[in-house]
Amino acid sequence: MAGRIPQNFIDDLISRLDIIDVVSARTRLKKAGKNYSACCPFHNEKTPSFTVSPDKQFYYCFGCGATGSALKFVMEFDGLEFPDAVEKLAGDLNIEVPREGSQQQNREPQYRELLSLTQKSADFFEQQLRTSKDKDKAIDYLKDRGLSGKAAKFFSIGYAPPGWDNLQNSLAPGEKNDSTNNKTIKQLISCGMTIEKDDGRTYDRFRDRVMFPIRNVKGQVIAFGGRVLGDEKPKYLNSPETPIFHKSQELYGLYEARKIRQKLTRMIIVEGYMDVVALAEYGIHYAVATLGTSTSEHHIRRLFKVVPEIIFCFDGDNAGRKAAQRAMETVIPALQDGLQARFLFLPDGEDPDTIVRKEGKEAFEKRLDNSKHLPEFVFDSIKEQVDFDTLDGKARFGQLAAPLISRLPTGMLKELMQQQLSQETGIKQEILAKLLPTETEQPNQHRANHQQPEQALKPQNGQASVPQAHISSHHDDHQYDNSEEQDFNAGDFIDTDGATQPSSNASTPRNKKEDKLLAILTQKALTLLVKFPESAQRIEPLEDFEPEDESERLLCEILKKLKQSPQSSSIGLLIQWTGTPFSEHLKNIANQSLELPEGVDPSNDIQGTLQNLRLRLLRREFQTLQNKIAENSFTSLTIEEKARYVALPMQLKKAQIITNP
Ligand code: GTP
Ligand code: MN
Repeated sequence: MAGRIPQNFIDDLISRLDIIDVVSARTRLKKAGKNYSACCPFHNEKTPSFTVSPDKQFYYCFGCGATGSALKFVMEFDGLEFPDAVEKLAGDLNIEVPREGSQQQNREPQYRELLSLTQKSADFFEQQLRTSKDKDKAIDYLKDRGLSGKAAKFFSIGYAPPGWDNLQNSLAPGEKNDSTNNKTIKQLISCGMTIEKDDGRTYDRFRDRVMFPIRNVKGQVIAFGGRVLGDEKPKYLNSPETPIFHKSQELYGLYEARKIRQKLTRMIIVEGYMDVVALAEYGIHYAVATLGTSTSEHHIRRLFKVVPEIIFCFDGDNAGRKAAQRAMETVIPALQDGLQARFLFLPDGEDPDTIVRKEGKEAFEKRLDNSKHLPEFVFDSIKEQVDFDTLDGKARFGQLAAPLISRLPTGMLKELMQQQLSQETGIKQEILAKLLPTETEQPNQHRANHQQPEQALKPQNGQASVPQAHISSHHDDHQYDNSEEQDFNAGDFIDTDGATQPSSNASTPRNKKEDKLLAILTQKALTLLVKFPESAQRIEPLEDFEPEDESERLLCEILKKLKQSPQSSSIGLLIQWTGTPFSEHLKNIANQSLELPEGVDPSNDIQGTLQNLRLRLLRREFQTLQNKIAENSFTSLTIEEKARYVALPMQLKKAQIITNP
């Protein structure tokens, strides 16, 4: 694993970048006064509401609220995670990204040379699909399978022609004794494209196969899968493990899914290359495949960084059921509240490729929508293994289910599943707990760690135990927490007379008057906090609160910072925020004069505002669930939603009492 990128390097990189260069390399910008404008690249629009400010070095869209620095723009536009975006921008400036405490640096040039060869190989295979004398049989094969040229191009599908040395001759065309040539051949062996025999002779690994290049998240080709055109064995040949390719970590199609400008809300994990390609062909651009391995925890964590919902898709046969069972066991420890895993079983003999071609996009998505949620899958699959009608069977059921449930991270889902298990078996929870070896802490609870365990276990405290209801693709990498300040948004666009930015969640019911009032209260609280930073020590911050706009976010962030460093003065605060888009706004606040009457504690005011914000959040959530019930029915709610619906009235009541005692 690469080490952290040092913060001073990131600061330095940002100061060297010009956001105008970065954005205009990707979107056409027009000068408008001292700023630049464009049609927003992040949502569909006809008239430009996207602005880039060269002075402030950030962008903002009045239509969809997208905002951030050059770095954030590249993350969003290129679909990269934070470290990869840094790599990319540094690469554009021809600077190497240092990593803390790693010896990796001296290996970087070697990687680069291998990557360059795999890319050249991909180019060669693509070109062969157009020019090889055997191209027709490859093209016919692809056509036969219903693949369009467009999809082939999107996935850069190519053809390795028959013969033992086509690729080698193309990439290392020099003489036998030429040292550069020999070096290239060594590298081709090292990246898996060429195989060396015992007698030292070398030949192409991939021959007469349709070639699927495998890209990493940065879009670099790191390996290949090759399929025979007929029924020969092996059907697929994959690149071996190499310095640049670790099979168990990569997902075919992930780069491609993120490259398309789409709002990703869920991802499907399928089994084969052709499944990913066929689904994309039919407009389902959110499928990825493991590379002939079972799904690893690494795969799952990676996907949960991008989306809150993963749907595992399996054949309906026995092998599929077994694979699903394994996937379920792997996903369980990663299922923080707010994250979902679902399971789709296809009819026997079908795979996503065949079924989407038969039924089309809509029907396939309907299958996805109706796929089993994890709790249902866990209980159903265990019921299949026992005779549930006997006492013995029930006990066995408990024995099998309890350890699985215990591996869930502490939270609402776990609590509910324990309750359901107890109900179904008629065994008290305390007794079920005894079926477990030990109730040890789960090792994978980064997000939940800040919670009080006893609190998190009580459903009526559910709000406190739902760490992140929405995981978005940006600022999700906690390892690089400093990136968050750089990347959030546009303090200077905060409308100080109280209007809020559009919410990212369009489906939440809104109350304009309340919003306006809260915006004013938030501004006031922000001012009080900046002027009286010591009051932060007497304020309870909101746990798990999702700010709705930049002012709210700023309030929460400043409060968090102040609680971490109790000695901070107003000036210290300003220094900390220098260089962020907020610094101007904060400076203005600090320059205002503000006297409080004797004996008035500003923390009461600020706390009151926070409570009001929380109350609004709860009210909206409740309203949303009510709407959902009105539209469909209570049974249409997921198990988590049902629990929320039941728990919310109590929470609302409590919050109301605190807010208006
Ligand atoms: P086709 O539709 O027949 O092209 O294949 P598929 O994509 O439906 O693949 P299948 O369901 O047969 O296998 C799923 C995945 O397992 C493939 O995409 C490969 O990654 C891997 N796989 C299948 N067969 C082989 C094989 O013979 N060798 C290796 N190494 N991997 C294989
Ligand atoms: Mn198939």
